[in-house]
Amino acid sequence: MHGNGSRGHDPRQYRDFGELRVIPRAQPRTVLVANAKGGCGKTTLATNLAAWFASREKATALMDFDPQGSSAHWLKLRPTAAAPISGIAAYGRLSSNETRSFRNRLPRHVERVVVDSPAGLTGTDLYDRISDSDLILVPILPSPIDIHSAANFIREIEMTGALREQNKQLLVIANRVRRNTIMFSKLNAFLAELGLPRVTYTRDSQLYTRAAARGMGIIDLSGSQVEDEKTHWNRIGGWIEHQLQLRHQHRQQMLQR
Ligand SMILES: Nc1ncnc2c1ncn2[C@@H]1O[C@H](COP(=O)(O)OP(=O)(O)OP(=O)(O)O)[C@@H](O)[C@H]1O
Ligand SMILES: [Mg+2]
Repeated sequence: MHGNGSRGHDPRQYRDFGELRVIPRAQPRTVLVANAKGGCGKTTLATNLAAWFASREKATALMDFDPQGSSAHWLKLRPTAAAPISGIAAYGRLSSNETRSFRNRLPRHVERVVVDSPAGLTGTDLYDRISDSDLILVPILPSPIDIHSAANFIREIEMTGALREQNKQLLVIANRVRRNTIMFSKLNAFLAELGLPRVTYTRDSQLYTRAAARGMGIIDLSGSQVEDEKTHWNRIGGWIEHQLQLRHQHRQQMLQR
């Protein structure tokens, strides 16, 4: 045994303990869903992603920073038989004897956190949400107004410096897409211009509204008419999980240097 444990909290100290090393508590991996534009599908994406993680037996928490409380409301509607998701209502005023970190504390076992954020997210709130996340998902509707405001939002994210400083990845999901429409092509062209990857898209479908009304994600639905969208969600969720794994491996490698 080499170390004497007196080097403060630098996580790199753990590698020096060889066989007897102390393994720090696993960090949950956090996905932020954000776009300053209202109504672009943040809550729909956040709830569907949380439902997907839960369906993969990951201990999942859904953290709602939006005072509208839409994700928190969705969670209240969730049937007890569905894969469990913990809820954290991070919005609202703190009471006098409460700190933000106390109120937003996660249950100990949580492996995946999905953060739903309010429209108009900006400034230090935006910086803080990015800093607390491993991956940022930006849903964009393929309409001229939404594409224009998404450009401003992505510019603001870049100006915070948080992505660069902290080596975070931003991924765009086109929401409510009707494929082969002109606006969908325009959105792709716009993302290519910004050098941003469009990860994928979600279809414009009543299935999303129907699932939301029952506290479910697409992945929780059954029936032949949902099979295609479920397969699609397995691709989206699998891809996001893969990105989280890559980031985790990258961080581990950095710590071992
Ligand atoms: N892929 C989709 N297909 C059909 N309807 C959708 C889809 N995505 C979102 N919607 C509907 O669009 C509306 C807005 O979606 P949502 O609430 O997720 O947006 P939001 O960005 O969270 O809005 P806000 O900024 O108010 O929080 C909702 O009624 C939702 O059911
Ligand atoms: Mg919302």
